[in-house]
Formats: sequence, C-alpha cells, structure tokens
Amino acid sequence: MTAVLFVCLGNICRSPTAEAVLRARAAAAGLDLTVDSCGTGGWHVGEPPYLPAIEAAAKRGYDLRSLRARQLTPQDFTRFDLVLVMDRSNLRDAEALCPPDGSKPRLFLTYAPGSGRTDLPDPWYTRDFEGTLDLIEAASDGLIAALRGQPPQ
Ligand code: 4NP
Repeated sequence: MTAVLFVCLGNICRSPTAEAVLRARAAAAGLDLTVDSCGTGGWHVGEPPYLPAIEAAAKRGYDLRSLRARQLTPQDFTRFDLVLVMDRSNLRDAEALCPPDGSKPRLFLTYAPGSGRTDLPDPWYTRDFEGTLDLIEAASDGLIAALRGQPPQ
C-alpha cells in the first residue's frame, strides 16, 4: 500500500485538509492509500485543525475534526513513500530533515499542473479557504491518476 504524508507549516490548515480530501477521494476511487499529515513547525502540536478550515472542508463533505497536529520527523521520510509539501518554504525545511535514503519531498501542486502554481497559498494568511480546497481537490485527483499510471491532465 502506498503511504502518503502531507507537510505544511502549522499542520492546522493546508496539510490536514489535504489529508482528509485525499483520503476521501482515494476511497471513492477504490485506491488503497495510507494518508497522514504533519507540520514543519511545532507550535500547534496536539491541536485540532483551525476552525475555519474544519468548517470550509465540512461544507464539501470532509471531516477534519478527529485530526491532531504533529511535527515532521526524519523517520517520516522512511515510513512514507510520498512526502508532499505545500510550498517552497516547506520544501527547504523538509529537505533539511530528509535522511540520504529517505523519500525526497516534492511539491503537492506538481500533481495539479493546470493550476499554473507551484505553491499552495496559506489560508492562515490569505483567508481563502475555498481556493485552498479547490487546489487541494485538483491536486488530489491528479495524484490519484498518477498513482493509477494515468498521464497528467
Ligand atoms: P498551515 O497554516 O501551515 O497551512 O497549517 C499555518 C497555521 C498556523 C501558522 C502558520 C501557518 N502559525 O504560524 O501559527
């Protein structure tokens, strides 16, 4: 089974949203995945996702309420096959923790080439929770297609 880890800064907005979206869409597509998320920073460890992120996701049918923040560790790069980060700042921080034999971190939005973006803007700052969900849904569907061996859209 493929194990996917999403990484953002706080693990209370983007990566827990991606975790719930990919888990739901992979299950709907009949794809067996292990999905988790974490943050490069430790400020919110043990906390549930940010309430506006929980509420925006709930309107689209994704339940984030049981998720709890944790911090990225070097062991994550050997436990997970795919380590997907949200922006280039996360990428630098994750690369600094990745052991030589670990799964190299990659930008999640490479699975949404049609978005024309490399970085997923942080709704903690932009307040655009709907736009965040749109990009996460597009990249999740691109990732599911890639895992099934289909060419990118
Ligand atoms: P996230 O957003 O990385 O998408 O979870 C953030 C949430 C909290 C903070 C930064 C980013 N913070 O500095 O507390």
